[in-house]
Amino acid sequence: MKGRWRADFFRNHHPITLELGCGKGEYTIGLAREYPERNFIGIDIKGARLWRGCKTAEEEHLHHVAFIRTRADHIERIFQPGEVSEIWITFPDPQPGKERKRLTSPLFLERYRRILSSRGLIHLKTDDRDLFAYTLEVLQKRKAEILLATEDLYHEYQEEPAARIQTYYESVWLEAGKKISYLRFRL
Ligand SMILES: C[S@@+](CC[C@H](N)C(=O)[O-])C[C@H]1O[C@@H](n2cnc3c(N)ncnc32)[C@H](O)[C@@H]1O
Repeated sequence: MKGRWRADFFRNHHPITLELGCGKGEYTIGLAREYPERNFIGIDIKGARLWRGCKTAEEEHLHHVAFIRTRADHIERIFQPGEVSEIWITFPDPQPGKERKRLTSPLFLERYRRILSSRGLIHLKTDDRDLFAYTLEVLQKRKAEILLATEDLYHEYQEEPAARIQTYYESVWLEAGKKISYLRFRL
């Protein structure tokens, strides 16, 4: 499907939003319900989790949603340069001590830059303070355009679209009283 997602899979010309490490796909499904004029693709390595999102997409006839079981590491094999408009990274594993596996490392950001359109957006939601601080530092080093950075999304920016939908892990952390950090940026 590389280069043909819109024409051959979705059969429309709408922009594509990716969610990396989407788990059960709540965020992808939530966005798809809100934005019928966009296409959504959730990516995760765990098939059993993806199944939940696939089933909901099928039950609700969300034809602008797809799920791919693969590692986010391979996105350049799946999408051609500029094919993606937006990327959400929702509660990624912080991968302490394993920078190369971290979904916001310079290695991954470079992969995202290559598949994103020129004004493409990236969003990160996390409960992990260290990952948030690490990502900010990486972005500042590469002089990325930081559009919004908050360590407490639900108290400081309740009106933000990012605060409208919760992932599975997010609801667990919110119930446990944790603060949710949010970053929106361009590379
Ligand atoms: C903490 S869970 C968060 C799941 C979901 N985003 C949520 O908030 O409920 C992290 C997810 O990332 C997936 N994951 C980890 N590394 C990945 C990679 N390199 N590529 C794709 N998915 C990955 C895991 O399988 C897991 O489902």
